[in-house]
Amino acid sequence: MKFFIDTANLAQIKEANELGILDGVTTNPSLMAKEGIRGEENIVNHYKAICEMVDGDISAEVISTEFNGIVEEGKKLAAIHPNIVVKVPMIKDGVKAIKWFTDNGIRTNCTLVFSAGQAILAAKAGAAYVSPFIGRVDDSGWEGTELIGQIANIFGIQGYKTEILAASIRNPNHIIKCAELGADVCTCPLDSILGLLKHPLTDIGLAKFLEDAKKL
Ligand code: E4P
Repeated sequence: MKFFIDTANLAQIKEANELGILDGVTTNPSLMAKEGIRGEENIVNHYKAICEMVDGDISAEVISTEFNGIVEEGKKLAAIHPNIVVKVPMIKDGVKAIKWFTDNGIRTNCTLVFSAGQAILAAKAGAAYVSPFIGRVDDSGWEGTELIGQIANIFGIQGYKTEILAASIRNPNHIIKCAELGADVCTCPLDSILGLLKHPLTDIGLAKFLEDAKKL
């Protein structure tokens, strides 16, 4: 399973990248706004900075919601760097635009996916990635990780090439479950990645080793 970081914060991207386990980055308009990035030039420069930092796929989301706007915006985003993947919402015009991008050699990440049916449509349109939002499914009282298993099962049976990018990760256990259930990629906040490091027995064991090392 590949690891992406789900942020537009350059310091966090750098920290995750320095761990040596980072395969890519996902952003969305909320994450970009959180970093105070405004205006087309600053947005483009921010994506360039991320692409220079991480050697992997970088998702950049369109804001348009109608076909022509999505296509025009996506073409501009894709022109920033070869590693840019255009993130397109799961709406009717979004599916049409994903098919257009597929036919024109531009890779896409279909975002805001909450059902297996939506994932099938994204795969049929040729999306490189489909992003089921498991944390938001949990928030609404359902079991988000079940969606990952269901989509993985369907994609396996149908032979779809679209990669399952588990998104809206809230904790380290989500990452473990996604790995178990066959997600191809997990995009995670830095805290959830670092949370995988933690185990109290590791801390206790290391303290004892260091204490005993003083006797050597
Ligand atoms: C990533 O592609 C998604 O936009 C992101 O994981 C959504 O996460 P959230 O539900 O925590 O906002």
